[in-house]
Amino acid sequence: MKESKVCFIDGEASRLFYRGYSIEELAEHSTFEEVAYLLIYGKLPTRSQLKEFTKLIESYRPIEPGILQLIRSFPSSCDPMDALRTAVSALGVHDPQPMTDKMEGRIDKAIRILAKTPSIITTFNSLRNGKEPIAPKPGLGHAADFLYMLTGKEPDKYDARIMDVALILHAEHEMNASTFSCTVTASTLADMYSIITSGIGTLRGPLHGGANEVALRTVLEVGDPSRAESYVTNALAEKKRIMGFGHRVYKTWDPRYVILKKLGAELAVRKGHTRLFDTASAIETSARNHLAGTPIFPNVDSYSGIVFHMLGIATDLFTPIFAMSRIAGWTAHAIEYLEANRLIRPKALYIGKTDLAYSSIEERVEQVPQL
Ligand code: CMC
Repeated sequence: MKESKVCFIDGEASRLFYRGYSIEELAEHSTFEEVAYLLIYGKLPTRSQLKEFTKLIESYRPIEPGILQLIRSFPSSCDPMDALRTAVSALGVHDPQPMTDKMEGRIDKAIRILAKTPSIITTFNSLRNGKEPIAPKPGLGHAADFLYMLTGKEPDKYDARIMDVALILHAEHEMNASTFSCTVTASTLADMYSIITSGIGTLRGPLHGGANEVALRTVLEVGDPSRAESYVTNALAEKKRIMGFGHRVYKTWDPRYVILKKLGAELAVRKGHTRLFDTASAIETSARNHLAGTPIFPNVDSYSGIVFHMLGIATDLFTPIFAMSRIAGWTAHAIEYLEANRLIRPKALYIGKTDLAYSSIEERVEQVPQL
């Protein structure tokens, strides 16, 4: 277990803190930019620090012609996470000095990646839909600009705020698989592009990112609150997992779920998606009844996909959005680790044989390899 001052989860008490601040306070009062600053620099920014940070992000948002050309070469059928991983890695190719020993330089490169990620995701999305990419619009916040580049329309304040809160809620979550992956890469003194690319690759798997996509698809398939009970009964009888439920650390409500459910309920009324929301809610009630007495409670993914769907976002963009937000947390952990770096090199517990007699290739008997 590594010591850290970035994030604290009290899984028994349903509490989550970024750098000591509760997730409820941050979601209520902050913007994603403020939270990213807090995670990366360890302190909430002053007004002038935030202004400078926001300007820097804004200046880094446009993507280089070489990156645009690369994204144009991707097949439109490719998964947006593959597109994101490849393009983020290529950002390092277009940086004349991807490696730097200086912490300031590393942070600057992390901010470049954080700033360009929404542009990469939306550029790929436009191109795969046969449209030209939409350039970032100076003056818009991170969340609003993402929605603008995605749709070509400036979002209203309400949608922009919901997106902002969703980014805040996904920005950091202690030593999860992708953060660990970034930390391992950082510990080799690799460059920031390699660090973030490792995180995106690890997040790609359905056991980490992606649960909200399945949760949403389930709600869409169930389709009506009246079918929730039979869905849950059958799923549990077949030993299937209810997506958006259960957590390795939380043994009670995930505090991010509480915030997202409230926002989801409001958004459903505004957007005329009450049946979708009520179906999700009925699945939740039924699952909680069936799982009463177990530590399996709803997690962040039970409503995040529904919120993104109601904002009009394509389902396969949910995990790239997760990455776009989590870059802040990945950076914070990588930087913290590098301050007192030691190569992470676990040992495997060898359980194979030793000193086997070597046989020549002619003598070997063909066997089906056992994997
Ligand atoms: N639905 C039904 N049963 C479940 C669920 C679920 N969602 N989650 C765990 N269980 C059961 C599981 O079947 C097992 O039962 P048994 O002991 O009878 O075999 C028991 O609970 C323990 O499961 P586990 O996999 O050992 O527990 P874990 O702590 O490793 O699981 C988890 C954590 C997130 C992998 C799991 O709860 C799960 O697969 N949930 C569904 C996917 C999901 O929602 N993932 C998003 C997690 S939150 C993302 C984030 O924080 O970034």
